This record gives sequence, C-alpha cells and structure tokens, in this order.
Amino acid sequence: MKICVTGAAGFIGGNFVYYMLENHPDYDIVGLDLLTYAGNLETLEEAMKNPHFKFTKGDIADREYVYDLFEKEKFDIVVNFAAESHVDRSIVNPEIFLKTNILGTSVLMDACRKYGIQRYHQVSTDEVYGDLPLDRPDLFFTEETPIHTSSPYSSSKAGADLLVLAYHRTYGLPVTITRCSNNYGPYHFPEKLIPLIISRALADESLPVYGTGENVRDWLYVKDHCAAIDKVIHNGREGEVYNVGGHNERTNLQVVKTILKELGKPESLITFVTDRKGHDRRYAIDPTKIETELGWSPTTTFDVGIKQTIDWYLTHKQWWQNIINGDYQNYYEKMYGNR
Ligand code: NAD
Ligand code: DAU
Repeated sequence: MKICVTGAAGFIGGNFVYYMLENHPDYDIVGLDLLTYAGNLETLEEAMKNPHFKFTKGDIADREYVYDLFEKEKFDIVVNFAAESHVDRSIVNPEIFLKTNILGTSVLMDACRKYGIQRYHQVSTDEVYGDLPLDRPDLFFTEETPIHTSSPYSSSKAGADLLVLAYHRTYGLPVTITRCSNNYGPYHFPEKLIPLIISRALADESLPVYGTGENVRDWLYVKDHCAAIDKVIHNGREGEVYNVGGHNERTNLQVVKTILKELGKPESLITFVTDRKGHDRRYAIDPTKIETELGWSPTTTFDVGIKQTIDWYLTHKQWWQNIINGDYQNYYEKMYGNR
C-alpha cells in the first residue's frame, strides 16, 4: 500500500506519518508539503530515517507538479492534510486560504481521477458547522448539521468539503471526509492556543485570552485523531462524512488555567485582549457515527493528554524555540501589538 500524506510537515500530518509508520510498518508513505511558515522539516527528522518514508516539497495547487508526482508514484490512498489552518490569519488575508484549501483540493482530486486511487480522504474540521450557543449544552454537531461557516478559514474548508462530495457524486471518486474538533499534542505550531500559552508561560510573558475566555472548544489528543483517520481510510464507507471528537469540552480560560497550574505559573499572566472577529462560541462533536460504525473511540483523556503535551514542549524546546525566534516574532507583534 502506498499513501500520499499532504501537509506532512505540519502538526497533524506529521503526527499521522508517525502513527502510520508505527501501525502499518509495511506501507510506503510519501509526505508532500510546501513548507509554508507552518511546515517544519524538523518534525519529520525521525521519519526520514525510515526507508518506508520519503518527503517531497511541492504545492498541492500546482497542477503540473501534482500530476508528475501521481504519475510517478501511483498512490493507493491520498490523505489531504495540507491547508492554511489558522483562523486569525484567514481574517487578515483570506485569499491564500481559497487557493490552497479549495483549489488545492480540486487539483489533488483531479490527479486522483487521472491516475486512479483506491481512496481520497479529506481531513476537514468541525468549524464547517459554525458554532453552538453557550447556553445549550444539550446541542452537538452531527453529520447532518447544516454547513454554516463563520470565518474565511472555515468557509474555505466547507468549500473543499462540498467539492469532495461533488467529485464523488459526479465522477464516482471514492472519497471520505472526517470533520474533527480541536487537536492538541506534539508538533503543534505555537500560534495556536495551547502551544502559545505553554511557550509564553514558560517565558513568564503575558497570555492573550480573546474576549472573556468563555468560548468553548472540544479538545482531542492528536493521536486519537490519527487513529480515527486510519479507521476511516480502511473501513469507512465511500462518500461518507465522519465526525471525530471525544466529548472534551473546556472553556479557553479553563484550558489556560490548567496549563498554568501544571507549569506552576501565576494566573496574573492572563491578559484579556480584544476578541477575534466573528469568534465562534462553542464547538461540540457528536461522534456516535464513527463510534458505532467503525468502533473508534478516543483513548487519551484531556487530563492525561495535556500533561503529555506539556512534557513534550518541555523536552523539545529546540523545536519550538527555533520557530518563535524566527519570523514568528514579527507575526506576534503584528497580530497582538495593538490588541
Ligand atoms: P498546520 O498548519 O500545522 O499544517 C498544515 C501543513 O500544510 C503545513 O505543513 C504547511 O506547510 C502545509 N501546506 C500549506 N499549504 C500547502 C500547499 N499549498 N501545498 C502543500 N502543503 C501545504 O495544520 P494542522 O493543524 O496540522 O491541520 C491539518 C489539517 O487538519 C488541515 O486541513 C486542518 O484544516 C485540519 N484540522 C485541523 C484541526 C486542528 O485542531 N489543528 C482540527 C480539525 C481539522
Ligand atoms: O475546531 C477545529 C479547528 O481548531 C481547526 O479546524 C483549526 O485549524 C484550528 O486552528 C483550531 O481552530 P481554533 O480557532 O479553535 O484554534 P485556536 O488555537 O486558534 O484558538 C482556540 C481558542 O482559543 C479560540 O476560541 C480562540 C482562542 N484564542 C486563540 C489564540 C491564538 C485565544 O483566546 N487567544 C489566542 O491568542
């Protein structure tokens, strides 16, 4: 079996490469990544030592490059993680989100049609469903919840999902989609809430919490997400969407306070800043379909996962310090300077 993993140098794609090398040691994996600001080859350093893994640098929206690669490699499965993934960046500059997340997805699927594959899998997000009110804890996103996006990021992911389902109906492409809640774990880029808070708290820097900190996210340890995708690409039904999440809802303030407690840092570091435009209030996944159909359920609780994640950041300082010492400093100043 030969799998193309796009976005392999990113957070979840990188974790997925390690998950597959460990759980399917006979599979060949080709990691494709453009190495944007979010892609980091250091993440794949260990994988590069495995003869079943190789890396190729390229843009999923570059048709010529993608066709050449598919013609040469003859993939059995394509798992598309490649994306612009940060909501705040999409609010500042939506265009690149449309190019990579929508056009890139269509180029990949055209290559699948031209050269043939057994399965195209689209890694999507619960954000395509929009948000839920804070005062209705009884409501959850199911696969039937209407698409109702809030940000340029989530709109581009929803556009891609619709195209994936259209390629299934129109051309019979064997596709599946997973829509997952917020991931956390190793190799998470430090612009996202959890690694941002860990890295800044360790340096005793102020911790920017948007609005009142009452927004709720449904956190899933990244390895559980990888296990869900593994199940769907092998046993999921073609043309189907599977929601992935583990009933792990926390307000942002709860998450920040948990990290501070683990690190022995004071809550006085918390600084409330101007809210994100269009900020989604609550995400909460109903994972019944993937649990009952495919026997998937999460194995890592938030209490265990957050400790493991903090330990990882403490023992891999070089990985994230290389990032925050580079261009990222300008990003932080631009995004948070006047907030
Ligand atoms: P990430 O930003 O860490 O990684 C994205 C990777 O894609 C980077 O390595 C980047 O270099 C690469 N990339 C960007 N544009 C590219 C292009 N044009 N061609 C090839 N590679 C390109 O993102 P992530 O958090 O790992 O998310 C991966 C996928 O999972 C995304 O599709 C995202 O929408 C989805 N998702 C993320 C979460 C989450 O909590 N992080 C939850 C649900 C779904
Ligand atoms: O739900 C899945 C989505 O989760 C993925 O599709 C996205 O790719 C991923 O980035 C993530 O989106 P969020 O917007 O939920 O993640 P982020 O880490 O940016 O923010 C989490 C929450 O924390 C959100 O309510 C905004 C808040 N926040 C974020 C940052 C960066 C803050 O309060 N302060 C911050 O500095």
